[in-house]
Amino acid sequence: MPEHTFKLNGKQVTVDVPGNVRLLWVLRDILGVNGPKYGCGLGVCQACTSHINGKAVNICSVPVEQLGPDDEVVTIEGLPGTVGKDLHPMQEAWLKHDVAQCGYCQPGQIMAAVSHVRKARDEGHEINDDDMDNIRNICRCGTYQRIRAAIKDGAEKM
Ligand code: FES
Ligand code: FES
Repeated sequence: MPEHTFKLNGKQVTVDVPGNVRLLWVLRDILGVNGPKYGCGLGVCQACTSHINGKAVNICSVPVEQLGPDDEVVTIEGLPGTVGKDLHPMQEAWLKHDVAQCGYCQPGQIMAAVSHVRKARDEGHEINDDDMDNIRNICRCGTYQRIRAAIKDGAEKM
């Protein structure tokens, strides 16, 4: 089988797997990185949201063959390392606002939140309600109000 090499949470990894296997399953089933969750496998629920080169991506829709040695994948496990702390400010805000209910969607929610804060800043402003309307991660427990409060709080500390 072909080998595929990319960076995962700051370390280079190589997997020997057919190129059309989606990144979500490479991470969860081969590399044992279970933070990104499997919800739909179809690019809809966004439970699997992780960062590729700093942008939020539904990694259930990314064939591993699309990644190369210079591509940087960051999952919720690696998010604190991007700021050199035990927890990322967005995770701290999540705890402060006691956002999680069952928790299943929450890694994806946090990764989407961080990406949208960065995107808003790239556009020259802080994240606002219109930006948050574009976060489409589904939460079956309906924690959306707490998510918004935590994003605003976490963004102030990013
Ligand atoms: S599992 Fe990836 S979008 Fe639902
Ligand atoms: S906290 Fe349960 S699905 Fe979001």
